[in-house]
Amino acid sequence: MLNIALPKGRLGDKVYEMFSQIGYDCRAIYEDNRKLVFENAENGVRYLLVKPSDVAIYVEHGAADIGVVGKDILLESSPDVYELLNLGIGKCRVAVAAKNGYVEQPDRVLRVATKYINIAKNYYAGINREIEIIKLNGSIELAPILGLSDVIVDIVETGSTLKENDLKVIADIVPISARFIANKSSFKFKNDRIEEMLQKLNALLQQREEAKKV
Ligand code: PRP
Repeated sequence: MLNIALPKGRLGDKVYEMFSQIGYDCRAIYEDNRKLVFENAENGVRYLLVKPSDVAIYVEHGAADIGVVGKDILLESSPDVYELLNLGIGKCRVAVAAKNGYVEQPDRVLRVATKYINIAKNYYAGINREIEIIKLNGSIELAPILGLSDVIVDIVETGSTLKENDLKVIADIVPISARFIANKSSFKFKNDRIEEMLQKLNALLQQREEAKKV
């Protein structure tokens, strides 16, 4: 059995669609219930529905053999897993944003609200800017509005959350997309199955690219 950590929510739906297209379907997943484990004995897969930010933890510890996780999580927590493939979905970016009209004051310590502590620290260390981190877990956009921080470091996808809160991007940090990852020992001991899946995913991505050209 191949244990797959699937992120719950929008990204998970897209990932499951890809996996079922290449032969790893599990119809029970569409049942409307609160179950978190779904199995298809015929094609040997077991899906574990986990919080997107926890996928890499399940995979690193071997509770799941493989999984799909945003590059933002990999950059932030550097889990000890193999990053095997860029799936090209869940595209967004990590960026610095501030209130419209914000003016940078280089001589003052910059207060940065974020849940991406390490990404923010690395970015500002790279440009030699002294910062104070204010760790938040969600609704980060509130911080500059209330004067809790000068800027935020957060995910921007469509930009509508920023716009609706009178904020704007002042610097891009890194582009993000979903990555196919594997547990290191699973990659050794279930190598045939994981390689097979990797090849099928690569073929599907190529097909999608070709279809875009037409
Ligand atoms: C993320 C992110 C932004 C929003 C960006 O939040 O933190 O708030 O999406 O998307 P947009 O550019 O398309 O508006 P999420 O919905 O994951 O919730 P969170 O506030 O709990 O992080």
